Amino acid sequence: MTPSSSSSTSPLAVLAIFMMALLLRESGAQLSPTFYSSTCPNVSAIVRSVVLQAHGSDARIYASLTRLHFHDCFVIGCDASILLDETSTIMSEKTAIPNNNSVRGYDVVDNIKTAVEMACPGVVSCADILALAAEASVNLAGGPSWSVPLGRRDGTTASRSGANNLPAPFDTLANLQSKFTAVGLSDTDLVALSGAHTFGRAKCSTFSNRLYNFSNGNPDPSLNSSYLATLRSSCPQGGSGDTLNNLDPATPDTFDNKYFTNLQSHRGLLQSDQELLSTSGASTAPTVNSFAGSQSSFFTSFSASMVNMGNIKPLTGSSGQIRSNCRKVNGS
Ligand code: HEM
Ligand SMILES: *[C@@H]1O[C@H](CO)[C@@H](O)[C@H](O)[C@H]1NC(C)=O
Ligand SMILES: *[C@@H]1O[C@H](CO)[C@@H](O)[C@H](O)[C@H]1NC(C)=O
Ligand SMILES: *[C@@H]1O[C@H](CO)[C@@H](O)[C@H](O)[C@H]1NC(C)=O
Ligand SMILES: *[C@@H]1O[C@H](CO)[C@@H](O)[C@H](O)[C@H]1NC(C)=O
Repeated sequence: MTPSSSSSTSPLAVLAIFMMALLLRESGAQLSPTFYSSTCPNVSAIVRSVVLQAHGSDARIYASLTRLHFHDCFVIGCDASILLDETSTIMSEKTAIPNNNSVRGYDVVDNIKTAVEMACPGVVSCADILALAAEASVNLAGGPSWSVPLGRRDGTTASRSGANNLPAPFDTLANLQSKFTAVGLSDTDLVALSGAHTFGRAKCSTFSNRLYNFSNGNPDPSLNSSYLATLRSSCPQGGSGDTLNNLDPATPDTFDNKYFTNLQSHRGLLQSDQELLSTSGASTAPTVNSFAGSQSSFFTSFSASMVNMGNIKPLTGSSGQIRSNCRKVNGS
């Protein structure tokens, strides 16, 4: 201890702490699970009940809602930009290549918004609804539960080009890593969040390049041969690219760690899935093996990574707005 410092905090330290608090505010770190505790205390239960109800007629909806939050957060940040419909001034993200005829669940989000507005008018953002719907979906499908940081506000713009740059199933591992790094997410986040492919469906067109002529007229060598045969019969050459396939052939609608054991048996559906383990020298491989060996370690990491993803550039304070209709900027 230097002679000048005493046991009481120096003014310089107070200033430093103050500056750090300011920086955290600026970076949006003030999202809080209790954000609506006085203005809409029951919001989580309301979201969960509409999600559960939707599942009654749509076994796939848990997966679809989880993916919606991902496709929102990676474009501009978690600001519900993906929900905006096309107008003369908005180029909607809904028709971007990764989303068009692929992302679904918009009607369920509308139903959630209606139920939430009934209980707490003008208070809860569409961006927070997406984060809450993802958590409810994962948990209702058998996955973990976590407390969702809240307080995001809704954006007033969309980015078609940003949506066209979402991670693609044909991306190399290096490309996936750079797209995750660009939004502040790590290798561990990439592996844990890819584990969301433990439920839901993918069209033949997202992986059929692996089945017939991946390289030199041969299929992808990292595909299990019996799985290859199954996929070829579902996705014949010249057939419809729109046929749906389970992302997780072992337990298609359950949120568990089978995605990772599938990768160990070379049963990853997308090239971007199998690359996490099969790319030679992949830095992600040990994490895949660890999640394959321990569902609880996957669940803990997945929850943390969903919080990390949900923290991508949120609008807070007086930025943005609380949309009254998730599909439209207020007053438009
Ligand atoms: C790592 C990069 C990723 C790539 C390249 C990727 C790619 C894809 C593709 C191509 C599909 C099928 C779409 C279709 O055929 O219509 C899909 C589905 C899905 N993705 Fe991803 N994804 C990635 C990461 C994620 C993340 C981070 C999440 C969520 C945390 C996620 C959740 C899902 C879910 C749940 C489905 C099924 C949706 C449904 O059935 O409606 N994905 N993904
Ligand atoms: C909270 O919402 C759920 C689902 O809509 C409902 O069943 C429950 O009665 C609500 N609780 C309160 C205290 O309003
Ligand atoms: C989106 O899909 C529809 C078919 O449902 C197609 O008519 C339209 O051209 C597509 N939009 C874009 C921008 O590719
Ligand atoms: C496979 O693809 C290559 C290059 O994309 C092409 O030159 C070749 O003709 C294709 N082979 C078959 C059997 O389709
Ligand atoms: C292919 O899948 C089967 C069934 O899951 C598994 O027993 C076998 O080990 C897998 N082969 C490879 C090379 O991973």
